[in-house]
Amino acid sequence: MFFLIKPYLKNIEKKLNKFLEDSEIDVEKVYKATSNLLFAGGKRLRPALCILSCLIFTEDKKILNKAENIAVAIEYIHSATLLHDDVIDEANLRRGKPSSNYLFGNEVAVLSGDYLFSQALRLIVENSNLAYLLLTLETIKKMVQGEIFQLDKLFDLNIKEWEYFYIISAKTARLMANAFSLYPYFLKENEETLILKSKLFNIGEYLGLAFQLVDDLLDYTGDEHTFGKPVLNDIKEGKITYPLLSILNKLSDEERKKLEETLEKIKNKNYDFEDLKFIKELVLKYEGHKETLKVAKEFVNGAKKLILELPQNKYSNLLYNLSDFILARSY
Ligand code: IPE
Ligand code: IPE
Ligand code: MG
Ligand code: MG
Ligand code: MG
Repeated sequence: MFFLIKPYLKNIEKKLNKFLEDSEIDVEKVYKATSNLLFAGGKRLRPALCILSCLIFTEDKKILNKAENIAVAIEYIHSATLLHDDVIDEANLRRGKPSSNYLFGNEVAVLSGDYLFSQALRLIVENSNLAYLLLTLETIKKMVQGEIFQLDKLFDLNIKEWEYFYIISAKTARLMANAFSLYPYFLKENEETLILKSKLFNIGEYLGLAFQLVDDLLDYTGDEHTFGKPVLNDIKEGKITYPLLSILNKLSDEERKKLEETLEKIKNKNYDFEDLKFIKELVLKYEGHKETLKVAKEFVNGAKKLILELPQNKYSNLLYNLSDFILARSY
């Protein structure tokens, strides 16, 4: 699908390794833990968004070189959050392979994430400007706030829809918005570039919201082997994600009671596979999976409408098609 931007992604792949080496990682464990994740085959969606953000408007080599470096920074930030996320979520599988926390321990995984954050911020400073640095810092802050808020809401069946959407916006959509906002930051600020910034930001945000909804959906309906991550892991952690949240008002009193009891068992780590299966079956019975996909589709449609307002060329067309991939993906 990314055929059109393959040369750029190839450069980014090289740079992902180069900037890791350049950073004088003399601690072998940190190098191993970061490489274990970085080169395990991620989709590189956020780097693609950075590059497309610029390619839709320009083929200027200088700008695209910088955009590649920023794409590396954004992928480092994404990778840092994944290293930390697998510690928080106690996950042992990432991108179809044993996760770094599983292989090297929580301590090394956390520190490796911190390492990637610092390397990422350095790349942002070297290749963009204060405004883009501030945007990125704000994104990192939001991601942390989203994760903390998510912790506050674990096992809470009274979680409101807006609270769920706040969480996914902060923890996931925001970084995609950050990535796709890139191009106008290379321009002199005026009213026009301000409007463009917010338009690109909104496209990234819509795509990110849809992306996390589908991620939460695949946690229920996906196949672990294809998804490359553990399935039914969200509910194990007490996360009431949209496939379940969207059906709560349809449950009978009996089902609600059994759900509460099951969540209590999970909370006390005193559950078995049948308990997880019960929740999954509720989701399927009341079609929480379909509802989730429906809402994801609405966000993708929101993004598509705005994409049609951008210059129409092969790159904006690729982004348009990418939006459909977000809905159709199984990994
Ligand atoms: C995983 O993101 C984390 C979420 C925001 C759901 P991706 O699904 O983009 O992960 P990789 O980079 O392709 O492994
Ligand atoms: C993704 O949340 C948010 C991150 C910023 C890592 P998840 O916990 O759903 O991510 P996965 O499913 O483990 O990739
Ligand atoms: Mg998580
Ligand atoms: Mg996780
Ligand atoms: Mg997930």
